[in-house]
Amino acid sequence: MINVLFVCLGNICRSPMAEAVFKVKVAEEGLEEKIHIDSAGTGGWHIGKPPHEGTLSILRENNIKGDDLSARQFSPDDKRFDYIVAMDDSNAANIKEVLPEEFHGSVFRLLDLVEDSTEKDVPDPYFTGNFQEVYRLVESGCSQLLIKIKKEHNM
Ligand code: 4NP
Repeated sequence: MINVLFVCLGNICRSPMAEAVFKVKVAEEGLEEKIHIDSAGTGGWHIGKPPHEGTLSILRENNIKGDDLSARQFSPDDKRFDYIVAMDDSNAANIKEVLPEEFHGSVFRLLDLVEDSTEKDVPDPYFTGNFQEVYRLVESGCSQLLIKIKKEHNM
C-alpha cells in the first residue's frame, strides 16, 4: 500500500479538498486498493469537524463527496505516510517540527509538483474566502501527484 497524507493548518478547507479530489482521481484509474489517502491539520482547533462549507460546496459543484470527512491533527505517527503533501510552506515547517528528521524527505508542497505554477503555496481560503482558486490549484496539483506516484511505483 502506498500512503498519501495531505496536510494544511485546520484540516477543514484545503487538505480535505485535496483528499476528496485525489480520491476521485485514484478511483478513476482503478488504484484505490493500492493507494491509501488521508488528510490532517497541524492545528487541533477543528478536530472531529466536517470540512468547511466553502470546501463542501465547491466539491458538490464538481460532483465530489466530502461530507464523510472529519478533521484530525497531524501527529508524529504520521511518519508512516510515504507522501506527506503540505499545502504551504508554513504547513511544511510545522510538520517538520514534529516529524523525526529521517522522515523529512517525505514532505513536500503540493504545488512544487506543478512546474508552471507561479504560486507554490495554496492560499488559505479560511482567510481569503476564495475556494474556487484553491480548487483550481488542488486539481492541478493532484493530477501531477498521481503522475509522480505512478512513475515512482511503475503503475
Ligand atoms: P485550512 O484552513 O488550513 O485550509 O483548513 C484553516 C482553517 C481553520 C483555521 C485556519 C486555517 N483556523 O485558524 O481555525
